[in-house]
Amino acid sequence: MTCTATAMAAPSISYLLFSMFFFLIMLHSKMFCMAVSSEEDTKLYVVYMGNAPSEDNGHSYTTAAGLHLDMLESVHGSRDAAEESLKYSYWKSFGGFAAMISPSHVEQLLDMDGVVSVFESKHLQVLTTRSWDFIGFPASAQNSNLDYQSDIVIGVLDTGIWPESESFNDVGFGPVPSKWRGGCQTTPDFPACNKKLVGAKFYRSLSSPIFKEDFLSPRDATGHGTHTSSTAAGNYIKNASLYGIAQGDARGGVPGARIAIHHFCPKYFEDSIAIGSFHAMKRGILVANSAGNTGPDKRSVINYSPWSLTVAASTIDRKMDSQLLLGNNISIEGTSLNTYTMEQPWYPLVYGGNIANVSGGFNSNDSRTCRFDTLNHTKVKGNIVLCYSSLTAPDHSIFHAGGAGLILILNGFNETAFPWLSPTTVISTKQADLVFSYINSTSSPTAIIHKTTTPKAPAPIVASFSSRGYNPITFDILKPDITAPGVNILASWSKKAPLTHNIEETRFPDFNTISGTFMSTPHTAGAAGFVKSHHNDWSRTAIKSALMTTIFIMDPTLAGNGDVEFGHGAGQINPIMATNLGLVFDATLDDYINFLCREDYNDTTLPLVIGDFSNCDSIEPSKNGGRQLNYPSIMVVAKPGEPIQAEFTLQSWLLLNQENLFKLNFLEQLLM
Ligand SMILES: *[C@@H]1O[C@H](CO)[C@@H](O)[C@H](O)[C@H]1NC(C)=O
Ligand SMILES: *[C@@H]1O[C@H](CO)[C@@H](O)[C@H](O)[C@H]1NC(C)=O
Ligand SMILES: *[C@@H]1O[C@H](CO)[C@@H](O)[C@H](O)[C@H]1NC(C)=O
Ligand SMILES: *[C@@H]1O[C@H](CO)[C@@H](O)[C@H](O)[C@H]1NC(C)=O
Ligand SMILES: *[C@@H]1O[C@H](CO)[C@@H](O)[C@H](O)[C@H]1NC(C)=O
Ligand SMILES: *[C@@H]1O[C@H](CO)[C@@H](O)[C@H](O)[C@H]1NC(C)=O
Ligand SMILES: *[C@@H]1O[C@H](CO)[C@@H](O)[C@H](O)[C@H]1NC(C)=O
Ligand SMILES: *[C@@H]1O[C@H](CO)[C@@H](O)[C@H](O)[C@H]1NC(C)=O
Repeated sequence: MTCTATAMAAPSISYLLFSMFFFLIMLHSKMFCMAVSSEEDTKLYVVYMGNAPSEDNGHSYTTAAGLHLDMLESVHGSRDAAEESLKYSYWKSFGGFAAMISPSHVEQLLDMDGVVSVFESKHLQVLTTRSWDFIGFPASAQNSNLDYQSDIVIGVLDTGIWPESESFNDVGFGPVPSKWRGGCQTTPDFPACNKKLVGAKFYRSLSSPIFKEDFLSPRDATGHGTHTSSTAAGNYIKNASLYGIAQGDARGGVPGARIAIHHFCPKYFEDSIAIGSFHAMKRGILVANSAGNTGPDKRSVINYSPWSLTVAASTIDRKMDSQLLLGNNISIEGTSLNTYTMEQPWYPLVYGGNIANVSGGFNSNDSRTCRFDTLNHTKVKGNIVLCYSSLTAPDHSIFHAGGAGLILILNGFNETAFPWLSPTTVISTKQADLVFSYINSTSSPTAIIHKTTTPKAPAPIVASFSSRGYNPITFDILKPDITAPGVNILASWSKKAPLTHNIEETRFPDFNTISGTFMSTPHTAGAAGFVKSHHNDWSRTAIKSALMTTIFIMDPTLAGNGDVEFGHGAGQINPIMATNLGLVFDATLDDYINFLCREDYNDTTLPLVIGDFSNCDSIEPSKNGGRQLNYPSIMVVAKPGEPIQAEFTLQSWLLLNQENLFKLNFLEQLLM
């Protein structure tokens, strides 16, 4: 199969990236929005008609929609009914339409010329609670095939697990699947696995822990591994929340699946993941890797190997709002994970820059960022203090100096809510202007910071921290591959892990809300597990391509945080659709090896870990091997103002560099 793309690059963009699946993405996002039916027997279907009619031949939305209306008119019997039933016409990247039709209409349409297939939207659920629900994946769908789920083991390489968490309770689970051969490494502080948590390993690469509190066992001291494990496959838990914040029912992607945890020392965490994915690929296991948390810079993506599914992080439709109310009744929406309810109706409000410890030798320029020494502690006590800041420093100062609360001025990265020792909200410099003019306008300014609420927000938006492509090595493979919820995600937590990383912290919650591509990755792993539970025979690449070709399209105009088109890959995962759509771009280990050959790797540069390079001799090295890999997205590098033409032979590819080779060898020793 050959796919030729021709386009004129706009003068202002140097890279044109597009995915042949944007059409599917777009279409499913429309279905997502429109899946409301008043008539019982009609449902939203997508009528897929293969390749798009060419624009060069004068085709446009209007001609496409005209054709689609003609087709619908012939099944409905009237133009009006046709117009009412047509919901969307696709013509840019493929031909087809979405319409509210009945099963008998489907039969008629299937008989028509040009109709390749007709499939139904399953997104008829009302969206209630968050992340899984937000992506259109209700609990009812998950519970439909628990028997199959129970045969799936999701392996998590992370900081360990808190086995007593309700998320890993094995009540109602049958015997451990017989195919499971992994072990359970027990120690006095990790006495046993169970029928839910079937495997646990701790890699003793060091005789002492990396940080003081860590366990030399599979047990989690940080909360991170507990959080990711419960996101991927945690049990259904009613009424979970962080001190009442983000309240709802918590569940993993495949609640019926089993979990095996591999506790790695955090220092080796990323390496282990990178290497693990290669070995997993060789054994036919799909690995979801995090894209990294160093966005929004271009090329910041890590984990760009083609055999991995590289996952970006995006928002869900709720924000973490900690409202700042000023004494003049002006209300400002700050972002924060503020678990406190302040007792008094109002507190005096001061600006750090106005309360310098003058006799200590500090001036306003020093104290505006509220470093502990620079402040007159007498003037902090009992007050809400406004501070410019780098992230954590003022939290300590205000807490230790007895401040009542903290207003932090910080630009960017404002999707992510952090917890604090004192009642705190984070605002932008623009919002801070309102606070300054209020402070200037009165002799005794006051304020109050409210406990976090979770109002609706436009979503999904790629998080500013989420690492962006393009792919630093093989330009014509788009990375990251996909995005999933990774901002302010509530999941289970370790009882050993405090809410903030302060020694004074007294809050040790059962659930915590954290953000990162490490949060979106388990969503994707959970989704992959769910697809596998429906299609046990699908290969790792089949599942990957199913996930990538059935997504919700991202709307770049929602985001204001830079280069979002390089940030989300194909779009946001859609687990249910992925089980329904059989569009599969498979690739085997041999395909990856052929790709490596094309990229001029050989036995010497990539020894035994890869496999057999003996066929490389017959393969011509070329600089765009990515176009010949059967990859479920397409990327073309274009020069500004120049026409581009690129030919893709849909086959297979892979990429390795020396650094990855080192990682592979490391894992080989560790795992084998
Ligand atoms: C849910 O949890 C909240 C906070 O922990 C608690 O106040 C509330 O009573 C719980 N509701 C139910 C129905 O259990
Ligand atoms: C703020 O609003 C409250 C309640 O609406 C009102 O009683 C109060 O007078 C208002 N204060 C100012 C300064 O406008
Ligand atoms: C701190 O503030 C108090 C109360 O306003 C004042 O009496 C004292 O002189 C100040 N100390 C310094 C070091 O600025
Ligand atoms: C001011 O700074 C000095 C020197 O760091 C310190 O000893 C003193 O306690 C501070 N005063 C106040 C009021 O915070
Ligand atoms: C604070 O910094 C600004 C800009 O660097 C400078 O103009 C001003 O004089 C400084 N103020 C004090 C009190 O040192
Ligand atoms: C973050 O900042 C951007 C730009 O100032 C703004 O458009 C967006 O609404 C803010 N998001 C939140 C959650 O406050
Ligand atoms: C508030 O007053 C200070 C001087 O006391 C001035 O530098 C600042 O620009 C004023 N801010 C606003 C927003 O009015
Ligand atoms: C493998 O590749 C390296 C680097 O391109 C080259 O120097 C070497 O000759 C190749 N070895 C074989 C056996 O082709």
